[in-house]
Amino acid sequence: MLELKDGVFWVGYVDWDLRSFHGYSTPHGSTYNAYLILDEKPTLIDTVKHYGFEEMFSRIKQLIDPGKIQYIISNHTEMDHSGSIEKLIEYCPNAEVVCSPKGKEGLLKHFKKDWKFKVVKTGDTLNIGKRNLQFFLMPMVHWPDSMATYSGSDSILFPNDAFGQHYASHERFADEVGSDIAIEELEKYYANIILPYGAQVLSALGTFGDIKLDMICTSHGLIWRKKEDIEKIVSLYHKWANYKSNKQVTIIYDTMWHSTEKLATRLYELVDSAGIEVKLINLKLTDHSDAITDIMRSRVILVGSPILNSGVLPQMAGFLTYLRGLKPKNRFGLCFGSYGWSKAGFVEFENYLKNAGIELIDEGRYFQYVPQKGDFDNLADLLPKIKEALEKE
Ligand code: FEO
Repeated sequence: MLELKDGVFWVGYVDWDLRSFHGYSTPHGSTYNAYLILDEKPTLIDTVKHYGFEEMFSRIKQLIDPGKIQYIISNHTEMDHSGSIEKLIEYCPNAEVVCSPKGKEGLLKHFKKDWKFKVVKTGDTLNIGKRNLQFFLMPMVHWPDSMATYSGSDSILFPNDAFGQHYASHERFADEVGSDIAIEELEKYYANIILPYGAQVLSALGTFGDIKLDMICTSHGLIWRKKEDIEKIVSLYHKWANYKSNKQVTIIYDTMWHSTEKLATRLYELVDSAGIEVKLINLKLTDHSDAITDIMRSRVILVGSPILNSGVLPQMAGFLTYLRGLKPKNRFGLCFGSYGWSKAGFVEFENYLKNAGIELIDEGRYFQYVPQKGDFDNLADLLPKIKEALEKE
């Protein structure tokens, strides 16, 4: 059994088979991390998705009679973490469920069970024996109920989804798998789950202040324990929450008869030959959750689609709807594409970007049927505008 610090154990569930987390592609699976603290009042921090109950329960039983658990801390109501509370509590009916005020509301609405609740707020502490656990509410990071638990005696922060990554592995620590791999997954997680809540992330980071951190025990993926990793991921959270980006251009497109693809390729050559960092993404071949990660990295986004039935192609429409929900701030963009007999659909196309909060750097570039050499020349004047946008913060 993995003992993280004296008396603090990982008792989670590794979800090797997970390939989609409500639309977020998870090619490496995920984990739901639960932690058991064996103190005078044994305390479980979060549970696992309902189908991981037996695995979590078996781990707990190897350490303690589950009936002795006195507190089940529910840092977050979403069912990947609360989904096993109901079954577990059958074995420890006197355990109190510790959660935020919104957490109690959410758990009551989800499970309709009148468990013994202990509602906490920022600054509250809970004595479990040798330890005083401290709580920090983190509303909208990423649900209204989200909170973090801190064990000062162990210098461990349990921030639930924050600092998580979807990554299944035998190893439990980021530095065992490779910090670069873990940070890449951390970035994808932030882009897909936490991106809209920059202000709330900054507020949460401010609430933590300068607590000592030996470990960040997130609820998904790998645990952070290397000092340099912890410093790096906190700094990245500051960067992303402030909607900072790289001087990168991402060109993302879908195509029907290759005309929009030709435009995308020409734009790619134009930007690349200017020595600007650029990425070309064919949306037919790339999952939207990976594409969003590049959008978060990039200051400029060039989006291409042909017109079909007065709208963009369905895969592009899905991507744009997803983008609109995630609302990346401080990004600049442009639409381009080809059409047959009507350009009307491009109005809606541009509105998608505007509604996602992306500032258009110029009129969209639209070409009838198959773009010709002159049309390609017509794209060249975009380069100064792209360069100008890249200099904006
Ligand atoms: Fe991992 Fe918001 O649940």
